[in-house]
Amino acid sequence: MKKLLSFGLLLAAFATVKAQTAPTWSADVASIIYNKCSNCHHAGAIGPFPLMSYQDAFVQAAGIEGSVSDGKMPPWPPDPAYRRYAHERLLETDEKTKILDWIAAGAPEGDANTAPVPPVFTDGWAIASPDISIKMPDYFSEAVSSDLYKCFAIPTGITEDRYIKSIEVIPGNRSVVHHVLIFQDPSGDCLALDAADPNPGYTNYGGAGSNNAKLVGGWVPGSTTYTLPNGFGIKLKANSALVLQVHYPAGTVGTLDSTRVNIKFTDGTNTREVFVAPILNHLVTMTNGPLNIPANEVKVFEEEFTLPIKATVFTVSPHMHLIGRNVKAYAVPPTGDTIKLINIRDWNFGWQGAYQFQYAQTIPEGTVIRGTATYDNTVNNPYNPSNPPQDVNVGEATTDEMMITYFSYSYYQPGDENILMDSTLLTTSVPQQVANKLNVFFYPNPATNNVFIDIPNDNDAYTLTLYNQMGQAVLSSRLQNDGWFDIATLPAGLYIADVRNAKGIYTQKLLKY
Ligand code: HEC
Repeated sequence: MKKLLSFGLLLAAFATVKAQTAPTWSADVASIIYNKCSNCHHAGAIGPFPLMSYQDAFVQAAGIEGSVSDGKMPPWPPDPAYRRYAHERLLETDEKTKILDWIAAGAPEGDANTAPVPPVFTDGWAIASPDISIKMPDYFSEAVSSDLYKCFAIPTGITEDRYIKSIEVIPGNRSVVHHVLIFQDPSGDCLALDAADPNPGYTNYGGAGSNNAKLVGGWVPGSTTYTLPNGFGIKLKANSALVLQVHYPAGTVGTLDSTRVNIKFTDGTNTREVFVAPILNHLVTMTNGPLNIPANEVKVFEEEFTLPIKATVFTVSPHMHLIGRNVKAYAVPPTGDTIKLINIRDWNFGWQGAYQFQYAQTIPEGTVIRGTATYDNTVNNPYNPSNPPQDVNVGEATTDEMMITYFSYSYYQPGDENILMDSTLLTTSVPQQVANKLNVFFYPNPATNNVFIDIPNDNDAYTLTLYNQMGQAVLSSRLQNDGWFDIATLPAGLYIADVRNAKGIYTQKLLKY
């Protein structure tokens, strides 16, 4: 009897240890999936199945294992070892380990009562009262067996120049809209192209179909509303049309879409203009062009441009077509270290983006900005649209190629380097913070009115600071006990919560909705 009892105790002890070591859905994994996957994986979104509950994740465990271990999900083309960005769709190493360990342990649920609640996705507008809100006509996709790039030109109705502060794209049908590029065209060219096509919109692959059309923004699934830091704006010219280039993947034929763009202008008259320009491009800055890739060849192209001003740079967006395989851009200042800008090692045309630096990036006058890209026109390239391969030349069509890197930037003013676009990585940029990561726990996250903050030690005092996406501290407070914290008055959005004292720091994204 005694023996049996101690064996039973031992077993119980073993079970506890095991339960503590294997991650569970409720304690460890749900919050990761809800933060990093559910925005694309919920009913009606672009992901092929929902990840909104334990059951959803359990039945997809094998697929999740594969796509998380090879880095395919979440989709995030830039190499994080080269450069980190604001608003990344990326799993940190410890998050990846937790998901994989959880699956290896049989994907246990843990205590369902303590599981975080799934996020709520609404069709509401992030820009509540836009200055302009334009919607393309109802359009039924005609993409049968190949992808379709359809442009819709819509007049803005503005009669004087204004400055864009925020752009929000609301796809009419999240399950078929793969990306949207937004151009402005003051010339009337694109309106004429649209009028000439009997169906809504007109087909154009590389851009908007006119050299007078200039890129102002873009959207891919998973991106948030794009907002410039306070005081900055992209000029929208009087009487211009906006052109929405929408990518509908093959097989979406017959599905209805009507995508909307909401725009908020800056209010002050002292707006600093932000330029969106193809600083590196095959037409002007290529040093070993022309961009022609004969069939069955792999070729590397180089571009360089010497910056005539000191610039404050917000985003970088490379653009190639289908046979581009990798692209890199970096800046070599007259003195000092090379500035790494972007490195995409496995180019995928379907996942393009405007990547925002975590802090506005200063680039000195006289810096040489360099780009290098590889094009693979052989049968080894899984994205090669032609088999056998055909000669590929520079141009706008699907089967032509491009090598462009857009930058959004402004003239530098002192202090610009402190403009924080996202503070996810505060822990690696401030030395004393590397020392100790505190064990702080926020619940629920996302939260509406109140968030419970569990601090490591009730006898110590901590400071809590919440930063908004502009990097401004919006709330600062002293914490001495675990407890509920009122966030009811904060506007909805993504915040960085920072808890610290002399013993260490903790930072965490907090979504208020
Ligand atoms: C930005 C949107 C987005 C995010 C974020 C995202 N997915 Fe996906 N996921 C997709 C799309 C779209 C597909 C369909 C395949 C494709 O287009 O690449 C997909 C496919 C998958 C598949 C099927 C694999 C395959 O080879 O087709 C799995 C499994 C998956 N996602 C898991 C995840 C997990 C786990 C996360 C979070 C760690 C995640 N996804 C985050 C958009 C997303």
